[in-house]
Amino acid sequence: MKTTLLGKGFAVEFDGVDLAALGDAALGELREIWMRNKVAVLREQVLSDDALVDFTLRMGPLFTHVRDQYHAPGRPEIMYVSNLSEDGRNLGSLGDGDLRWHTDQSYTPRPVFGTLLYGVEIPEDGGATWFCDLASAYAAMPEELRAEVEGETACYSGLKPESARRVKLRPDQIARIPDQRHPLVRTHPYCNRKSLYISPDHITQIGDLDRDETEAALGRLVAWADRPDFTYRHQWRVNDVVIWDNASVMHRRQSFPSDQRRFLKRTGFHFPEALGVPY
Ligand code: OGA
Ligand code: MN
Repeated sequence: MKTTLLGKGFAVEFDGVDLAALGDAALGELREIWMRNKVAVLREQVLSDDALVDFTLRMGPLFTHVRDQYHAPGRPEIMYVSNLSEDGRNLGSLGDGDLRWHTDQSYTPRPVFGTLLYGVEIPEDGGATWFCDLASAYAAMPEELRAEVEGETACYSGLKPESARRVKLRPDQIARIPDQRHPLVRTHPYCNRKSLYISPDHITQIGDLDRDETEAALGRLVAWADRPDFTYRHQWRVNDVVIWDNASVMHRRQSFPSDQRRFLKRTGFHFPEALGVPY
C-alpha cells in the first residue's frame, strides 16, 4: 500500500484505498500500518452508513457512545459530531468550540481503541483536529518527568468540571460512566509499545495529588508532548476518513465560526474484551 508520512514519525495518508471495497489481506495490511503509525488518513472516501459501520466492525468490536442523543437515527453505532441544529435541537455532539487534549472514553473501564471520523461537511475556516503522539513523547521523555508517571495511576472522569463538553449528560447516562483508574503509562497490546496515557480533559487526579498539583503535573506533561516533533494538525476536506489509536495518541480540536457548517460521522471500535483494560 502506498502511504505518505504526514507528521514527524507518525500519521500516514493512504493513497488509492477504497474503504468500502477492501479485501481481507488489504484490510490486514491497512490495520498494521495504522497501528504502527497511530493515525490513518484516507481521502475521497464515499461511504454509506452501512459501509461505514461494516468497515468499523472489521477493525474491531463496535463501540457505542453513551451520548445517545447524537446517534444517527436507528444506527447507534454512528454518532454525529456537528454544530448543526434542526428545529432548535442539536444534530450532533461537540458544538463549535475548542476541545482540550483528550483520549476518547478514557473514563470507561475498556476505553475505545480506534475512533473514526468521516468528514461530510467541513467549514471554510478552523475546525482542524490535532493529534499528539504519546508513545514517541513517552519514549523521549526526560528522566525527571518520567519519574512522575512511571508506575502511577490517574483517575479519569467523563464529568470533569473544566471539560469542554457543554451539553450535560442525563442522570441515567451519568450512572453508566463511574470514574475509572488507569495507569498513566500503558502498553499497547498489539505493538507492545509503551505510551503515556493522558487525557487532560478527563483526568481529575494523578496518584494521590490534589487538584492543583494534578493540573500542574498535567501541564508539565502536555508541555512536553505538545511540540512539533510529536504533533500533527489535520486540516479536514470533505470525504476524509481519519482513524486514530486512542492507546497511542491524544487529540484536540480547534474552534470554528458558529455560522459555518461542520458535520462528521463518528464510529469506534474496541480491543477484544481480554485486551481492553489498559495495563
Ligand atoms: C471526537 C473528537 C474532534 C473533532 O469525535 O472524539 O474529539 O475534530 N472530535 O471533531
Ligand atoms: Mn475525541
